Amino acid sequence: MKKYLIVIALIIGIYPTLLAQNAKMNSFIDSLMGKMTLLEKLGQLNLSSGAGNLPVITEGGGREDYIRQGLIGASQGRKSQEVAVKESRLGIPLIAGKDVIHGYATTFPIPLAMSCMWDTERIEKSARIAAKEAAVSGICWTYSPMVDICRDPRWGRIAEGAGEDPWLGSQIAKAYVRGYQGDDLSKDNTIMACVKHFALYGAVEAGRDYNTVDMSRLSMFQDYFPPYKAAFDAGAGSAMTSFNLVDGIPATGNKWLLNDLLREKWGFDGFIVTDFTAINEMMNHGMGDLQSVAVQALKAGVDMDMVGQSFIGTLGKSLKEGKVTQEEIDQACRRVLEAKYKLGLFDDPFKYFNEEKAKKILLCQEHLDAAREIASRSIVLLKNSEGILPLKKSGKIAVVGPLADSKSDMLGTWAGTRNTEKVVTILEGIKNVVGDKAEILYAKGSFFTTDPYLLNVNTKKEDYIVQTPKEEKQLLDEAKQTVSGADVIVAVLGESKAWSGEAASRSDIGIPECQQNLLKEMLATGKPVILVLANGRPLTLTWEDNHISAILEAWHGGTEAGNALADVLFGDYNPSGKLTTTFPRSVGQIPIYYNHKNTGRPFINDIKFTSKYLDIPNEPLYPFGFGLSYTTFEYSDITLDKTGMGLNDTINASVTVKNTGKYDGEEVVQLYIRDLAGSVSRPVKELKGFKKVLIPAGKSVVCTFRISAADLAFWHKDLIWGTEPGDFNIFIGANSRDVKGASFALLDKGSSFIIK
Ligand code: BGC
Ligand code: BGC
Repeated sequence: MKKYLIVIALIIGIYPTLLAQNAKMNSFIDSLMGKMTLLEKLGQLNLSSGAGNLPVITEGGGREDYIRQGLIGASQGRKSQEVAVKESRLGIPLIAGKDVIHGYATTFPIPLAMSCMWDTERIEKSARIAAKEAAVSGICWTYSPMVDICRDPRWGRIAEGAGEDPWLGSQIAKAYVRGYQGDDLSKDNTIMACVKHFALYGAVEAGRDYNTVDMSRLSMFQDYFPPYKAAFDAGAGSAMTSFNLVDGIPATGNKWLLNDLLREKWGFDGFIVTDFTAINEMMNHGMGDLQSVAVQALKAGVDMDMVGQSFIGTLGKSLKEGKVTQEEIDQACRRVLEAKYKLGLFDDPFKYFNEEKAKKILLCQEHLDAAREIASRSIVLLKNSEGILPLKKSGKIAVVGPLADSKSDMLGTWAGTRNTEKVVTILEGIKNVVGDKAEILYAKGSFFTTDPYLLNVNTKKEDYIVQTPKEEKQLLDEAKQTVSGADVIVAVLGESKAWSGEAASRSDIGIPECQQNLLKEMLATGKPVILVLANGRPLTLTWEDNHISAILEAWHGGTEAGNALADVLFGDYNPSGKLTTTFPRSVGQIPIYYNHKNTGRPFINDIKFTSKYLDIPNEPLYPFGFGLSYTTFEYSDITLDKTGMGLNDTINASVTVKNTGKYDGEEVVQLYIRDLAGSVSRPVKELKGFKKVLIPAGKSVVCTFRISAADLAFWHKDLIWGTEPGDFNIFIGANSRDVKGASFALLDKGSSFIIK
C-alpha cells in the first residue's frame, strides 16, 4: 500500500513538471517551424550518410552546400555541424547517428555473444560505456539495439541480435535502451537508441539477407514482436524500419505496422527512420515509382528517409499534387525536431564533441577491463569430456589456426570505430596470461578458406588472392613441425569477421575444409587438442563434437578477446555462458529452435509415420540454453508450494542446485513452462525466467521462481492477450533439454481471463 502511495505522490509531483517541459518544447518547435520553408522542413527528414549520395538533389555542390541550404537534417562530423549551425538560415543542428552496436572504440563481443551471459546488468553496462565513448565523439544517436528474433543461423545478422527467444530478447532489449539512454537523454553522456529492424527482419526466408518474410499475425505477436515492444516500453527514442515485407507490404510503407500498431497501440512517441534506402527499395518490391513509394512511407508513419533522398526529392511535388498533406510533412518534421530538442542539441549543438574527454575515456583501462570481463563471460564451454580444461600454465602450449593471431576478426561485424590497434589476439592473450610460466608456440596452420566463392567476400586484402594447394600444404607442414614439441594444442578456428553481419549469409555454416584439415592433422598427433571457435553465428559442429574432447565457443570477442579467452582457458574465470540460439547438427534442420510447436505425430523411435528425418536426429547438436562449466551442477526435483492456483494467485517452484565439482561456478538456472491445451496450439516449452547464481564448490543453492497467471498468458487467435485456465507443465534445468519437470493447474473459474 505504502509503495502505491509513494508512486502516486511521485506521479503527482512529476506530472506537472513533465507537462511544463512538453509545453516549453512544443512552443519552441512551433515557433521554429513557423519560420521554416517547405524545403527546410523536408531537409529535416533527410539523412545523408556522407558518402555516395543518390542523385535526386541536382542543385548545389555537395553535402556541405546542402547542409548550408537546410536540405539535410541528419549527418555526422563537427564540420557538418558547424555548417548547419553557423551557415544555414535557421541554424538547426544536425542529429548524428552511427551503428554503435557493441561498443564504440572499446569493442565488446558481438551482441549474440553478449546475450550468452544471461546478464542484463552487464549488457546494460556495455551499452553505457558505448554511449559514453560515442557521446564525446560527435555521436548522439545509435542504430541499436537490434532486437530481431532469429531462428536461422544462415542469416549473417544473427550476430547482431540476442538469439531466438522472445522473453530473454525482451529483457536484453530493455537493458540496451537503459544503457544508451540512461535516465536523461539531454545529458552529455547519454545517446538516443534506435530499435531495429521494425519488424521481422530476422525471419528472412532461407536465411538469405534482404529476402522476403511471410508470417502469421499470431506468430508476429507471440514470437517476434515482444523484444521490439520491450525496447519501446523502456523508452527508446527512435525506431528503424526493416527492409522486408510484413503482411505483404514492405515494413517501410506499412501503415498498419508503423502507425496503427507502433504509434497508436503501443503509444510510441519517438521518430521513425527508414533503413538505408529502404523507401527506394520499395520500387523493387513492386510498390510503384519513387514518388509513390515516398508517399506511402510518409503516410505509413516514416519521419526520416535514410540516404535515399526520396522525401526531399519528391514530397514537394506530391504536396502540390495533393498526394500528401502539409500536416503529414509537419508531423514528421516535428518528430525529428523533438528528438533534437530532447537530446539538448538546440541548447548546445556541440555538446557531443569533446576531444579532450575523448582522449581520456576512449579505450581507457576501466573500459578495457569491462570489455575483458564481459568477453570472458560471453564464452560458452560446449564440450570438456575428458576434463582437459582448464589448462595448466606450464609446459609447452602450441597455438594454431588462422584466427589465433588476427586482430581485426576479433572485432566482428559493425565494430564501432574499428580500432584494431588495441585488440588483443588470442595468441597475445594466452602469452599475457601465462607470462613466463609456459612456453607458447605458434603457427598459422591454414587459410580461412580456399573456396574461391567465400574468399571473394573476405575483406582482408591478402585473402583475396586464391590460395594454392601448395601454399596450403606448406602452412600445414609448418604447423605439424611447430606442434611436434608441444604438450597440448589450442586450435583457433572459425569465421572471418566478413562472414557474418549484413549481407553475409552462408548456406554451409561449417568450419571451412582447409581449417578442418588442420584440425584433423592436429588430432592425428595424438596430443590433446582444444578447439577454440571465433565466429559470428552458430556453426554446424557435428564432426568436431564427435572427435574433439574440448570445445570453447569464444565468438568474435572484441578488443579484449584474447585476454578474455585466456582467462577462461586457464581457469582464471570458470565459464558460465549459455547459448541463446540453437546449434543445429546440419543446415538441413534449419529453421530449428527450442520453442517450437508439437506436431500431430511427434517422433517415436522405430515408428515410421512420425515426424523425423531419415538421416539425422531431430534434436540439435547443442540446444538453446546449453553451456558447461568446469564444475558440475546437480538439480534436485522441483518442489511446488501448491499444484493448483487461482487467477490472482502465485505458485512457487523451487529446485536445489548443488555444485558437485571442484570449482566454484556460476549456473544459469532456467525456468520453462508448457501450456498443455489452449485455444491455439502452444509451444512445447517457453522460457519464463532464469536466475544466474554463484555456487561455491560443494555448496547448494535453492532457486525459487514465482509463477503468476501473467506468466501463462499468450496471444489468442483474435490477437487478444490473455490466460486460459488448464494444465501446465513446468520445467527447471540447466538448458532447454536437460530439465526436471512438475505440473500444476490454473483453476477454471468459468471463463478465460483476459489480461489486456
Ligand atoms: C543496416 C542497418 C544500419 C544502416 C546504417 C543498413 O544497411 O541494415 O542495420 O543501421 O545500414 O548503417
Ligand atoms: C498418409 C496419407 C494416407 C493415409 C492412408 C497417412 O498416414 O499421410 O497420405 O492416405 O495414411 O494410407
